[in-house]
Amino acid sequence: QQVGLLFGGRSGEHEVSISSARAIAQALLSADNASRYTLYPFYISKIGQWHGPEVAQGVLDSGQPLNAEDGDTVNLWSFPPEASQMTVWFPILHGPNGEDGTIQGLLQLMQVPFVGSGVLGSAVGMDKLAMKSAFAQAGLPQVAYREIRRHEIWSNPCVFPKLCDEIDAVLGYPCFVKPANLGSSVGISKVRSRSEFEAALDNAASYDRRVIVEAAVANVREVECAVLGTDNPQVSVVGEIRFEGDFYDYETKYTAGQADLLIPAPLPDKIARQIRELAAEAFTAVDASGLSRVDFFYQEETGEIFLNEINTLPGFTATSMYPQLWQATGIAFPDLVHQLLQFALD
Ligand code: ADP
Ligand code: DAL
Ligand code: MG
Repeated sequence: QQVGLLFGGRSGEHEVSISSARAIAQALLSADNASRYTLYPFYISKIGQWHGPEVAQGVLDSGQPLNAEDGDTVNLWSFPPEASQMTVWFPILHGPNGEDGTIQGLLQLMQVPFVGSGVLGSAVGMDKLAMKSAFAQAGLPQVAYREIRRHEIWSNPCVFPKLCDEIDAVLGYPCFVKPANLGSSVGISKVRSRSEFEAALDNAASYDRRVIVEAAVANVREVECAVLGTDNPQVSVVGEIRFEGDFYDYETKYTAGQADLLIPAPLPDKIARQIRELAAEAFTAVDASGLSRVDFFYQEETGEIFLNEINTLPGFTATSMYPQLWQATGIAFPDLVHQLLQFALD
């Protein structure tokens, strides 16, 4: 089987994608997988140019993105010739233009099976507002939130005080302000007072037309669960992220040593069981497929569990939460990659 490993991509999570792809490429070269699959890496540069196996292997080897100066010219409709020969694709692109249904639509049009969610599951999982609606429809527990459009924030300055009054009254402080369609905490602010609110809305609106304001969970514990499969998916043990600092922002996520993963999370059995059930329900609610990591907020004092989000193409480096959760549940990294390819091919 010829596996097209598709990585890089036009999103702020380009570097994370390279790291994920390096780990998956290595897993495909493990003894068992090497007898089943032939790896063909494909790299999408930061400006959207596709590169075939030769260049892509260089990026995997160096771990460094290609600079735009290195002969990159965007011609989206010229694919590397090898791209037409794949039996199955493994897209490991994080964030917009990769995790959001765009690449999935392209692969579907190519009529070649691929790992992970289809167009619908990817798009709903990526868009925090669509995701929250799907979760609400399925009766899943979430924090209170409000949608605000960029035009409400920008076009008429007089709207601000009214908006702030309304949000003060309903959500209170602190609250979180987020763009609807990003990842890795980009554009997200924790707002502690009305005076910080305007700048936070303005910042989030600079990334997206649609913005979310949501109530903050106090003394939150952040716990995550991995899902694998299709209609009756398997659910992993629960893991927890611990870090110093105010919230799990970009720097904490990607600076080595800033966050610790606790696997399994030290939780009462009943809570862990509930989280695992909710993870499977969240996966089904957005029509995800193949893999997802479902993230929760746990409020220890009250015992409340809130669904935060689903990531349909979670970080997949050797030290990422998703593969580590499966390792702890009994599925080693190379076998995980094999199972994902088999779900795609079935
Ligand atoms: P992303 O998709 O970029 O990961 P998240 O919605 O997961 O965005 O938010 C990033 C981080 O911000 C979370 O991991 C958490 O640390 C913090 N956070 C977000 N929303 C809340 C909330 N309602 N209550 C407490 N912390 C939150
Ligand atoms: N968006 C990053 C890659 C994650 O969820 O792991
Ligand atoms: Mg998150």
